[in-house]
Amino acid sequence: MKYGWKFIREDVQDAHLEHFDDANWREVRIPHDYAIEGPFHPDNDKQVSEVIADGIIRPIVHVGRTGALPIAEKAWYRKKFFVQANTKKVFLEFDGIMSNSTIYVNSLKYQGRVYGYSSFSVDISDAVKFGAENTLAVSVSPEDTSSRWYTGAGIYRAVRLVEKADHYFPYCPLRVTTEIRNNKAFIDLEASIVNPSQDVEVEFVVTDRDGMVVGSSRKRCYIDSVYEVFKLNSYRCWGIWNSYLYTVTAKIFIDGKEVDCYSTRFGIRTIEFDSNKGFIINGAVTKIKGICMHHDLGALGAAFNKYAAERQIEKLIKMGVNGYRCAHNPPAPEVLDLCDEYGLVVMDEAYDEWQMKKVKNGYGKHFDKWAKQDLVDMIRRDRNHPSVIMWSIGNEILEQREEDGYKVARYLHRICKQEDPTRPTTAGLSMTEDAFRTGIAFEVDLAGINYKPHLYEQLHLKYPDVILYGSETGSTVSTRGYFEKRATIEHPIKPKENLKESSFDLGSPNWAYPYEREFLAQDQYPFVFGEFVWTGFDYIGEPTPYRNHFPARSSYFGIYDTAGMEKDRVYSFKSKWTDEKFIHLMPHWNWTEGDIVDVHAYSSCSKVELFLNGRSLGIAKKNSKDETKSHRFVWEKVLYEPGELLAVSVDNPSIKSCIKTAQEPTTVLVEPEKVSIFADGDALCYIKCTIVDKQGTVCPCSDIQLNFSVTGPIEYIAADSGYQADERTFGEPYCKTLSGKCMVIIRSIKDTPGTGMLTVSSELGEQTVEIDTVL
Ligand code: GAL
Repeated sequence: MKYGWKFIREDVQDAHLEHFDDANWREVRIPHDYAIEGPFHPDNDKQVSEVIADGIIRPIVHVGRTGALPIAEKAWYRKKFFVQANTKKVFLEFDGIMSNSTIYVNSLKYQGRVYGYSSFSVDISDAVKFGAENTLAVSVSPEDTSSRWYTGAGIYRAVRLVEKADHYFPYCPLRVTTEIRNNKAFIDLEASIVNPSQDVEVEFVVTDRDGMVVGSSRKRCYIDSVYEVFKLNSYRCWGIWNSYLYTVTAKIFIDGKEVDCYSTRFGIRTIEFDSNKGFIINGAVTKIKGICMHHDLGALGAAFNKYAAERQIEKLIKMGVNGYRCAHNPPAPEVLDLCDEYGLVVMDEAYDEWQMKKVKNGYGKHFDKWAKQDLVDMIRRDRNHPSVIMWSIGNEILEQREEDGYKVARYLHRICKQEDPTRPTTAGLSMTEDAFRTGIAFEVDLAGINYKPHLYEQLHLKYPDVILYGSETGSTVSTRGYFEKRATIEHPIKPKENLKESSFDLGSPNWAYPYEREFLAQDQYPFVFGEFVWTGFDYIGEPTPYRNHFPARSSYFGIYDTAGMEKDRVYSFKSKWTDEKFIHLMPHWNWTEGDIVDVHAYSSCSKVELFLNGRSLGIAKKNSKDETKSHRFVWEKVLYEPGELLAVSVDNPSIKSCIKTAQEPTTVLVEPEKVSIFADGDALCYIKCTIVDKQGTVCPCSDIQLNFSVTGPIEYIAADSGYQADERTFGEPYCKTLSGKCMVIIRSIKDTPGTGMLTVSSELGEQTVEIDTVL
């Protein structure tokens, strides 16, 4: 149910009534996030609170913690829908509504969900008119001070109308588990059926990736679940970056006539965790090189778009990522589909709070009533994804310190085991010593350690049976392409007047540390099975260290910026996590003559020589004894002169990298990431605009405003420079570049193929680019 919704961003009396007149409301499509429409404002969800976990014990003012966007406004959605005359049961499935939703069908009220991240199904059979038009109204009432990051607001994930006959599969009806034994793969299937009877037959068909049937059966169904097992003598495993997915389709037949069908994909793989060897997938010990991700998609806000999420994943894989932590809540289900398809392992996480709240109206308020349901729903929805390898029952929950905290952990752990005995449980533990003292750490199968690589060794010695990994690591901060002259370590990081952080990436808040420290620890301790770096992309909200510095409103933690443009740090991870041979030099080379500048390079080469305008500035080596030089090459205090800086691998001179002083900007390079996209109304094209001089060199310090317009079968959606303190609403048709760059996002129009054109105008003239949309 994507199109044809009416929407109003306010609370309206009687909006739930069937015959309410919504003619004046605007039309929107789902998924929809109304908070991203802005405007950014310092009073939006201004929070006054302490941050115990960060050592802030007296309340402080946070502006922009949830993005300085209007996330706490009430709103209404309405939609007409038709139900077939021969339907017997009708459901609405919501993948997530942010938040505190209530559903009305023909004026009849149904409980929605408090927790905005949960997927759920509502049985609306009592309210619908069969063979007629019906009216759906959904109210959302998100609360202020309910989150530590940007939530989005509204029906921000997919909605489906599901019509059933008398006998049917309920919501998330199928459980698929696989096992490899004696070189054979066993596929265990269990399907729930509503209204079983001796006339009901259930058919299972399992097909491989090419659609070949590898197992099928048909059996009568006397009780409310049917079990089947297929044994495959030959099979293919799902693996990291090596996806192989099977599909199982279950059908219900009455008197030979098909009345319901449900299909899901799954993978065959084995996972083991060992306190000495680490993580073992399909028999191979594998380090998890993971990232944490919040759910927003930058300029699109929280409104889910599969193309945008896929783009993120592709970019992450390019730098060697093999693990994805859904921080700190269940993701859109399509994210897990993508992780299945691309072969990433996933830490699926339920919540950021238990009973003890981190923010005034946080989940803790609802925990006693909803925690079980939300956890069960997450597991039932996600348990067939081969990518999901662990259930996280919480992140940095404050109960770590409480003597009784282990009870809650135990309770949640047991729920996970009841729902899915095949996967381990975990939690992101930050108050590590407390978590071991109070026992929470022993109640989960895998002890996730947030930001404490210095404790790995002693924990392992003291608790040799505990399985350890870095559930959250790094948290260095930077602004893409922005540099200070000197690369200084700043810990804890302090706010700057321009609200920018240097891309040397040596600054971190007091609980965090340079990511190189984690690289060293991961190398040193094979028993630690990997890490999840905070974060893959900048996200909206939590603009640490700018807690009270509007317009800072997005995080600085990302390896990519909110627009998906690379920060320099991408190359550090690439040099560590992939086999690619390259040199990446930084900073830019546009300073004032006489400046003293540090020069760094990321590379997997062992020795690199630097030349400034042809003169050698020496050969640099990495130094594993010095954390910040352990994974980068450093030339300190270079006397700046304009020209060319060249870095060459000593062992293989064909590997080199060069940066040049840019001259005056002359034009804007407009480069779409794709030349054609599907005309399905969802496909996006990201178009990078770069200010360059007449030689084509990027001008890193000549930021100007660009104005955008489109013609043809495309829609302009947003632009984003990645600057964390840009006050302009993302959807405005203009944007000031950051470090010479900004990204425009356009979208295709459903069933309208053709050629669209983006025009970029600025003081540098007018540039255009064409994007084809195809059916
Ligand atoms: C962690 C927390 C994350 C984020 C991060 C920033 O302690 O789990 O949600 O706040 O710090 O460094």
